[in-house]
Amino acid sequence: MGSHYSNVLGGLFILIIMSPGPTTATSRPEPMMNESSIGSDRATSERSLLANELALKPQMGWSTWNHFHCDINETLVRETADAMVSMGLASVGYQYINIDDCWAEQNRDEQGNLVPRASSFPSGIITLADYVHQKGLKLGIYSDAGTETCSDTMPGSLGFEEQDAKIFASWGIDYLKYDNCNNDNEDVKDRYYKMKQALLNSGREIFFSMCEWGQEDVATWGQSAGNSWRTSGDIDDNWESMTSHADQNDQWASYAYPGGWNDPDILEVGNGGMTQAEYRSHFSIWALAKAPLLIGCDIRYMDNSTFKILSNKEVIDVNQDGLGHQGRKIKQDGDLEVWAGPLSGNKVAVVLWNRGATEATITAYWSDLGLNATTLVTARDLWDHSRVRLPSKGQISASVPTHDCKMYVLSPMPPSTQRDRSAAKRSNV
Ligand code: GLA
Repeated sequence: MGSHYSNVLGGLFILIIMSPGPTTATSRPEPMMNESSIGSDRATSERSLLANELALKPQMGWSTWNHFHCDINETLVRETADAMVSMGLASVGYQYINIDDCWAEQNRDEQGNLVPRASSFPSGIITLADYVHQKGLKLGIYSDAGTETCSDTMPGSLGFEEQDAKIFASWGIDYLKYDNCNNDNEDVKDRYYKMKQALLNSGREIFFSMCEWGQEDVATWGQSAGNSWRTSGDIDDNWESMTSHADQNDQWASYAYPGGWNDPDILEVGNGGMTQAEYRSHFSIWALAKAPLLIGCDIRYMDNSTFKILSNKEVIDVNQDGLGHQGRKIKQDGDLEVWAGPLSGNKVAVVLWNRGATEATITAYWSDLGLNATTLVTARDLWDHSRVRLPSKGQISASVPTHDCKMYVLSPMPPSTQRDRSAAKRSNV
């Protein structure tokens, strides 16, 4: 790999890697909890959001949207909950079953309440929530900070925030995705803060997933409003869309931390528009970037290679790592990229990503990663599930097929081991 560095790691990353002992999030920007804001409504809400411990890790689950769009019903939701558990996806961390657009009747009832669509959700949402909860899972629902949702087939929550949040809570909803269509050009922050406050007033802990497509640089204020925020428009099931979503999301890396995450959109893995290599890259980069891992395919009928990608526990562990630090693109040479980020325990996650049309060798040097050139590490290959031999000091290198990636976790050896090894070498043992 050449010497063109487009985006080396900032000081924060180096600080975290080099600092001894358990790393903490104290060097992160603190979310509006200084003296002057204590007592204000927003600070109170902020504390409540964090205190309820939602989003300490990026959310994991499934959404109806990418595969089914408006073609949804309660049987699909129930069967997906069944599959989540029976296939073992729940046991690797997938938790939310999220109903997206098109679940409600076009009109509210006489009391102004949203009404589940009789043709597709005849048993109602409470029954569905009970079913999902009995499986040990959580139920998500969708609304819009406008007069109608994006499908134009059901009402939005603008002006009905308190009423809708209360009814969601009464139904046992655990998660709200809140979209941005038909918003009458009203101020985006006002509209999203209103729903955030309504959820906090609702009497139930409800994860707040903001979907306003990155407007008003949402990452810069998202932590004070919600638990995750979309950083772009809608993803499509193809390479160009997926890579561009990864890049758009990457710009905002420093704003994500436990409590609130950048969201490059629902996964397309398994929907058929990309190769296995491309889906592997998609999942690896989303995991490294601490993105929500929301499956977007039909898990009831997925093939084995899709299952293998989505259930890779070692990759999921990077996403769910307690440090909660979004990994990012740290080096680029044409189509060859290195993405990396710190993990708890002074470990480092690294992705060597070949975005070019032919197989190529990609190398990450310790200096790229904020590691001392002499640091000894053990390296784990998260897709081969094996320990990697490192023939050259201070670097990790691999030949990567087109559109594929390699993903590693590097674990620096404890200083005592490093001293023993050098001493052994000096005395030729
Ligand atoms: C918008 C959102 C999508 C999806 C659709 C539903 O386009 O960005 O994620 O929720 O609306 O209509």
